[in-house]
Amino acid sequence: MLFDEVVAQRRSICAYDANKKLNKEQIAELVKCAQQAPSWKNSQTGRYYAVFASDKLAALRSCLVPQNQIVSKDVNVLLVTTYVKNRSGFDREGNAENEMGNGWGCYDLGLQNAYLVLKAADMGIDSVILGLRDADAIRELLNIPESENIGAVIALGYRSSADVQAPKRKDINEILTVWE
Ligand SMILES: Cc1cc2nc3c(=O)[nH]c(=O)nc-3n(C[C@H](O)[C@H](O)[C@H](O)COP(=O)(O)O)c2cc1C
Repeated sequence: MLFDEVVAQRRSICAYDANKKLNKEQIAELVKCAQQAPSWKNSQTGRYYAVFASDKLAALRSCLVPQNQIVSKDVNVLLVTTYVKNRSGFDREGNAENEMGNGWGCYDLGLQNAYLVLKAADMGIDSVILGLRDADAIRELLNIPESENIGAVIALGYRSSADVQAPKRKDINEILTVWE
């Protein structure tokens, strides 16, 4: 697909086809693409936890707010995304390089995740990034070390309906300031 077509194809999908399943090779392909994203001094602090196992998947879904449990009810995999903290945006002595602190780690993870969901769209796989989740409960469930901050959970699957509207975007003049 052309890049603009991939961008147009990617939508946050809130209803999935329970009969279409992803496999771990596809997840590996997505994460490989995410690894190509730029990161602070190439620190590559993003981490991924792919949950297929049905008991763990059910437990992970219960760590989401009720609306997101509904959204993810028919996917066979959820991807928890984290980043190693105090590294991206920090010097060798562990001091923050500027006021953003761990904001840079979060920034890098967001970039990686953007690559990931766009790659998914290119592969015909749908997704939705879920920020409304209980990070403490997820940490305990998946044994995620305290050295990582938990970001979004990404639901991946195949849309159950072709009828998906593209939410409106702001006018470009609202977000772009140009001096020329
Ligand atoms: C950081 C982040 C957190 C989000 N959290 C949720 C969420 O908890 N539940 C949900 O249904 N959608 C969530 N979304 C999806 C947005 O609502 C969606 O991207 C936005 O409405 C634009 O729609 P589009 O992705 O189809 O362009 C999140 C998106 C981002 C980037």
